[in-house]
Amino acid sequence: MIFVSSNKHKFLEISRMMENKGITVEWKRMKYEEIQADTTEEISLDSARKLSASIGEPFFLEDTGIFLDSLGGFPGPYSSYVQSKIGNSGILRLIEGRNRSAYFLTVITYFDGRLFHQFSGKLNGTIAQSERGNLGFGYDPIFIPDGFDITLGEMELESKNRISHRSKALQALVDYLLANHGI
Ligand code: IMP
Repeated sequence: MIFVSSNKHKFLEISRMMENKGITVEWKRMKYEEIQADTTEEISLDSARKLSASIGEPFFLEDTGIFLDSLGGFPGPYSSYVQSKIGNSGILRLIEGRNRSAYFLTVITYFDGRLFHQFSGKLNGTIAQSERGNLGFGYDPIFIPDGFDITLGEMELESKNRISHRSKALQALVDYLLANHGI
């Protein structure tokens, strides 16, 4: 299976999950333009549509966002921009004194050579009081998944994979492939 991304962490998580299912993932490492849209679904689909013309064979990609309840879901589809502009410390300042519940959403778009299919996965949690851990990437050091008292930044890849938004979306894709193509 071809996975398109410029993000090494995403590839490592995805390839490990798939390896555990006996599926090899080929990393097409490339940067592509993402539109700014109101939903993660739109961004993911638009990217896949644009790339399908040049790739010309089945592949999947994903778009992920972090949604903060007290900020009406912000940054959500703007997560990449916000991470690059204000980082985790900026998020911590923004929600000081507010409700800290949040979730991650991953939307995978799979191009089967003809049609596009989307699969999503969600992980609920809370924003930590400070950054903790240097594992993972992006918002991981400030996100504590429900049922845990450590951040994703303090979790080994295998543990993150057991619960993550990304692994749930990926499982939905695998279930679809098994049901429809036998992989
Ligand atoms: P994108 O899906 O690459 O557009 O990611 C949007 C933003 O969310 C970027 O700043 C990523 O670093 C961050 N991000 C994506 N996935 C994760 C994750 O699993 N954990 C923490 N941050 C993430």
